[in-house]
Amino acid sequence: MKSRILLALPLLFAAFDISACKKSAEAVKPVEAFGAYDTEADWNDSTKLVNLGYQEAQGKRIFYQYCVWCHADATPAGPSNRSNLTPVPPLLNDGEKLNGESDEFMRNIITLGGSALGKSAMMPPYGKTLSAGEIQAVIAFTRAIAQPPYQRPGRPGSQYTAK
Ligand code: HEC
Repeated sequence: MKSRILLALPLLFAAFDISACKKSAEAVKPVEAFGAYDTEADWNDSTKLVNLGYQEAQGKRIFYQYCVWCHADATPAGPSNRSNLTPVPPLLNDGEKLNGESDEFMRNIITLGGSALGKSAMMPPYGKTLSAGEIQAVIAFTRAIAQPPYQRPGRPGSQYTAK
């Protein structure tokens, strides 16, 4: 029995060798996202990729762990819970809604939860689960995927860039 396995070993190695050869023969394709830490498919157009910087990529991971269940229609585990909630939470890429909210408001509602801001208690508080930096990262991710695209406020205190 043992000797049969031993006999089969060189064959196994040969098989690995062949597949390894094939791989290294493939041409290296230039990656569009070269230099990005991660990418996210545009939620409105899956043929487009959004390149994410370091903080935005951290925020993406936090979003897919904590927020995707209510703030997206699809999750890596299947359909989300979003449509079962009242009020229906905004999609995290909903620029019409979220571009007008200041970073400070976003920080507050994520940290303290909806009820602390007179909104629905269905929005949980994350101040004890996430650090301030993690909350800032998830806001950066929100801004990165916003449709229509988010523009930084032009003046302090204003949510709109001067035209
Ligand atoms: C259990 C469901 C649920 C989860 C999980 C959840 N939210 Fe929410 N969220 C809501 C609901 C519901 C609202 C709407 C509250 C309202 O309008 O009264 C909301 C509102 C918000 C708003 C404010 C939108 C606005 O303009 O009024 C932000 C920002 C937000 N959520 C971010 C997040 C982030 C970031 C996470 C993950 C860290 C998260 N939420 C996780 C349900 C959820």
